[in-house]
Amino acid sequence: MSSIKPHGGTLVNRIADPERRQALLQSVEGLSDIKINTWTISDLDLIGVGAFSPLQGFLKEEDYRSVVDSMRLSDGTIWSIPVTLAVSAQTAEQLEIGKQAALVGEDDGVVYGVITVESIYSVDQQYEAVNVFKTDDPEHPGVKKLLERSNVYVGGPIEVLNRPQPEKFQEFYYDPAQTRAEFEARGWNTIVGFQTRNPVHRAHEYIQKSAMEIVDALFLNPLVGETKSDDVPANVRMKSYLTLLENYYPEDRTFLGVFPAAMRYAGPREAIFHAMVRKNYGCTHFIVGRDHAGVGDYYGTYEAQEIFRNFTAEELGITPLFFEHSFFCTKCGNMASSKTCPHGKEHHMTLSGTKVRGLLREGKCPPPEFTRPEVAEVLIEGMKEQVTV
Ligand code: ADX
Repeated sequence: MSSIKPHGGTLVNRIADPERRQALLQSVEGLSDIKINTWTISDLDLIGVGAFSPLQGFLKEEDYRSVVDSMRLSDGTIWSIPVTLAVSAQTAEQLEIGKQAALVGEDDGVVYGVITVESIYSVDQQYEAVNVFKTDDPEHPGVKKLLERSNVYVGGPIEVLNRPQPEKFQEFYYDPAQTRAEFEARGWNTIVGFQTRNPVHRAHEYIQKSAMEIVDALFLNPLVGETKSDDVPANVRMKSYLTLLENYYPEDRTFLGVFPAAMRYAGPREAIFHAMVRKNYGCTHFIVGRDHAGVGDYYGTYEAQEIFRNFTAEELGITPLFFEHSFFCTKCGNMASSKTCPHGKEHHMTLSGTKVRGLLREGKCPPPEFTRPEVAEVLIEGMKEQVTV
């Protein structure tokens, strides 16, 4: 049985039970509304199901400042990404400390939850950007999102009343309690989590399978929340994962479930966050490869690995597995990294994401040493659909 403890010791559950939900829904009419976008709805839901354990709600000021400054909640627990609720100054004026407010979808009017307001504070977003993203460049996709929000935040515990409904691939949405039960039912003791926002190319496959050699199973956990517009859409990626798993992975040692969170592109800090969340899903190990959760040239190739040195193994509670930049070596005739291959760069096949996207858009498969042909076909089809939409 996977006995790994959730982060902070207990799996949080802030989903209102049916009776409580009914009572809260009846009382929301008298509450102030806070309009929330897709990103915040996903944060709310992930807090609710315990994926963000030990968070019980959106960060209060003390925790926020502690997270931004020292990657820890105010009680010392590791937490590297501020999960916050931004509200307009106008909305903030209508809120009262100690009172509840309704969290309402800005597009659909659905009451997704309620928050008990315990903290209302304004922040220096430039400071947050530099600490969390290591840059305040507005071109950085995470910084851009941050600067678009109001700098007034509201913190306090939440309760979820309605859950966002995925349009597709519903069967791959598992809450942490469910993945834990699934892993246990399969008799897996050690499970390695794999975060990705991309199709699984050969380098990804290589590091996953290297890890699979030393653990019981792989939890392929692609992020399917908001990503930047030039990333491959989640629906296309899901088809590509299914094709790959069907053709190249042992069914009894792999589990596919989505991570419905937004991508922050915060590189090193996001790697820590990703690891803590996968611990909550029941993973004992977590893969961190080259430039994990990075974008452009903002982070060093192995910075997302080095950041783990700030914490003890005990407080992390999940074992990170670090992998070097991997590639196909034509001389070795296999996938390798600088740790296992003695040959020069001229023998290494590496393709940039831009180059691969270009090929796929032209309807051409990248070399099989880079992408499995079955996966390439799905991606080419996906590109066509995007163009015709
Ligand atoms: S991420 O933003 O979700 O981290 P991506 O989907 O590209 O991006 O990567 C998923 C995981 O694979 C990350 O841990 C990343 O570091 C790792 N990775 C991606 N490409 C390589 C590679 N060529 N060699 C080694 N690790 C890689």
